[in-house]
Amino acid sequence: MVAAVRVHKHGGPEVLTYEQIEVGAPGPGQIKVKNRACGVNYIDTYFRMGMYPSPVGLPFVSGNEGAGEVMAVGPGVTDIKVGDRVGYVTALGGYSEERLMPADRAVKLPDGITFEQAAAMMLKGMTAQYLLRRTYKVERGSTILVHAAAGGVGVILCQWGNALGATVIGTVGSEEKAKIAKANGAHHTILYRNEDFAAKVKEITGGKLCDVVYDGIGKTTFPASLDCIRPLGMFASFGSASGPIEAFNINLLQTKGSLFATRPTLNTYVAKREDLLATAKDLFDVVSSGKVKIPVNQKYPLKDAAKAHKDLEGRGTTGSSILVP
Ligand SMILES: NC(=O)c1ccc[n+]([C@@H]2O[C@H](COP(=O)([O-])OP(=O)(O)OC[C@H]3O[C@@H](n4cnc5c(N)ncnc54)[C@H](OP(=O)(O)O)[C@@H]3O)[C@@H](O)[C@H]2O)c1
Repeated sequence: MVAAVRVHKHGGPEVLTYEQIEVGAPGPGQIKVKNRACGVNYIDTYFRMGMYPSPVGLPFVSGNEGAGEVMAVGPGVTDIKVGDRVGYVTALGGYSEERLMPADRAVKLPDGITFEQAAAMMLKGMTAQYLLRRTYKVERGSTILVHAAAGGVGVILCQWGNALGATVIGTVGSEEKAKIAKANGAHHTILYRNEDFAAKVKEITGGKLCDVVYDGIGKTTFPASLDCIRPLGMFASFGSASGPIEAFNINLLQTKGSLFATRPTLNTYVAKREDLLATAKDLFDVVSSGKVKIPVNQKYPLKDAAKAHKDLEGRGTTGSSILVP
């Protein structure tokens, strides 16, 4: 038996239950991983609340990101072996001392990447990679708006966007977070809880607005985010930390300047194994080069997963959070 954090019924952080579970031997195409660190992400709260359906029903082991050592491999697994250090993003099962998972979702970690770094960035960093390199190709001279710029995905978007030569504008919930966003590459910050952020973006850009808005906030930043985008620019709505955006009239995109809008998810961008490996490699390279650092600002023992969720949803965290089994 090993320790894990399970959800037996949907609800608030209190439904995260620390208990002992049985983890069997890996089946065909599976590996067994001894987790050294587990990533904490906003998506974990969506599964916990039932906003995203669990593919395995109830109960389920929470968590979608982690890193550890391979303990055993199942029949048919050829490219991963016992003892390999791996990082992964895969639906559920992450908050556990040991787990089974599909071998084709595991990525071997380069020597320079620690387990804690990997658990803090496989999901958030690969998300930043596809948002900056594929959803909208950010280049020298681009202007980008990053909401929640001091958050887990936010600090990576700011650093990487800056490294690509973009002007980075970040919105944040407090003065303290503004300092963190600036230290992570944001050229300008806006306190969006007190200020009209669209008016401020207009002022900062001299009316030119942004090429792309990366919006993981959802309900409370919509539709104002659209007013921050130049004609023919891109609205990348990649999350709902404040709740989902409600149905809207698509003509709004025309009146705001023939905008493009997308609701992307990492799963689609890394569905093919070659895309997973290429995305992870790009992330490992930019982190190894020192251009992007992964701040692990909250570290909890596995048994305190409920506190980790409470802190994340209470806007009390910055950078990445991890659980240590
Ligand atoms: N689509 C994808 O592929 C993908 C992948 C990864 C993450 N995401 C999304 O990206 C977003 C960020 O994820 P994360 O794990 O890095 O979280 P995070 O940004 O570290 O935490 C969420 C932040 O959102 C801000 N926020 C604004 N309104 C909020 C509200 N009503 N309640 C709580 N927080 C609020 C807070 O920052 P301030 O205090 O500065 O406002 C808070 O710290 C989430 O929406 C997540 O679902 C999407």
